[in-house]
This record gives sequence, C-alpha cells and structure tokens, in this order.
Amino acid sequence: MNIIHTVAELRTQVSCAKAAGKQVGLVPTMGALHEGHASLIRRSVEECGCTVVSVFVNPTQFNDPNDLKNYPRTLEADCALIEALGADIVFAPMAEEMYPEPDTRVFAYPPIDSVMEGARRPGHFNGVCQVVSKLFDMVQPDRAYFGEKDFQQIAVVRAMMKDQGSFELVACPIVRDERGLALSSRNALLSASERLTATAICRTLRESVSFARSLTVKEVIDTVVRRINAVEGMEVEYFQIVNA
Ligand code: PAF
Repeated sequence: MNIIHTVAELRTQVSCAKAAGKQVGLVPTMGALHEGHASLIRRSVEECGCTVVSVFVNPTQFNDPNDLKNYPRTLEADCALIEALGADIVFAPMAEEMYPEPDTRVFAYPPIDSVMEGARRPGHFNGVCQVVSKLFDMVQPDRAYFGEKDFQQIAVVRAMMKDQGSFELVACPIVRDERGLALSSRNALLSASERLTATAICRTLRESVSFARSLTVKEVIDTVVRRINAVEGMEVEYFQIVNA
C-alpha cells in the first residue's frame, strides 16, 4: 500500500492502475476510521482492482472552529487499518495541497442542501462539495463509496454529480454498535454514559416505524421528539420524515 501526500503523485498512481486495466474505487474520509469506514473500504476492495482512501480533515466544511480543532486525527492507526483491509493507496494531503488558493466556488442544490444539516451548519455542504469535487477530479473513480449515516450528504453529492460525474456513487448501510448507536468519529468522543444516553436516538427511531402504522406524520414526529427529549441529557435539534 502506498501512502501519498501530493496530488501529482496521486494522479500518477491512479493513471498506472487504470493503464493496468483496473477499476478505481474512491473512499473519501476524514480519518479517525471505525467499522463504518471499514465497511466502505471492504466493499471497494471487493468491487474495484484499485482502492484509494483519502484521509483529510477538510477545513472548509467546518463552520465551528472548535469542532475542527477537536476532530480526532489518527493517521498512523488509520493507515494500519486501511492496509489490513487491502486498499492500495492512502491519499493524506496537507490543507495547502488541497487548497493551494482559497476555494471560492459556490455549490447550491436547494432545497436539499439548505434544510436540516444545511440550515444548522451554514456552509457545511458547500465545503463538502468543494473537497469531494476536487477528489473526484483528482481520482476520476469508477465508483465512490459513501455511508448512509450521512444520508443528506449523499443526496447533496448525488445532486452535484448530475453536473460533474459519469461514475457510480455506492451508498453503504449505516454500521451500528451492539446497542444501536451509529458508529461515527464524533460519537467516539462521547463518554461511556453519554454513549448509553445516545442509544435513545436509535431505539426511538426504530419504534417510530411502528408508530407510523397508527399515527399521522405529525403525530409520529411529535411522539419521537417528546420521547427523546424525555431522556435526561438529550434535546432534539430536529426530526423530519422526508421522501428519500
Ligand atoms: O463524510 C465525511 O467524512 C466527509 O464529509 C467527506 C465526504 C470525507 C468530505 O470531507
């Protein structure tokens, strides 16, 4: 496995793989890898002759400087896991390599990118599109793998791909721990008791499937919000039922 830091080297290595007739899979990540990422990498390794995993904490998608500062960075352990999973290339650039000059491009796909996370984290999806479009351009993959944990992100990237891409976006199922909490780099920052508290989210979402058999959409939403808010330490920011 090759660990590379420059765009020029990335392009060279990907070209060699393509010249050898290999299909190229791209797994974009921000590192701090867990079993959710591992499932994406495994799938790419199964389906593509060459798998590129990018590890880059993208500053343009953070609207909270503390979140960016505290985001876990574990490159050495990430590379060990990626290698064990059989991927071929880790692309781990510095910010200056990805953004030699400020990226002023504006991506807008309303309403998909302006509701929910888009409304609560202004600029977030613009930053995601900036970095993902650069990665797509650098790698020109046959398939790109994203986790359904960030379902809205997939919807935004699909919208972007209508302008940009002729390859496949592979959406992979959420991976949860034994109590149902979605694996996520930020969830890894929770204490043991916070993790336990957070399981109320998954539990209530699962229950909501049965509420939907007898309640209206509005009643389901109100019930879910009420139940989660009743758990000490929890406060719902939003819960929406949407057409996927
Ligand atoms: O989902 C993530 O980890 C990030 O948003 C992504 C797609 C790697 C872009 O930085």
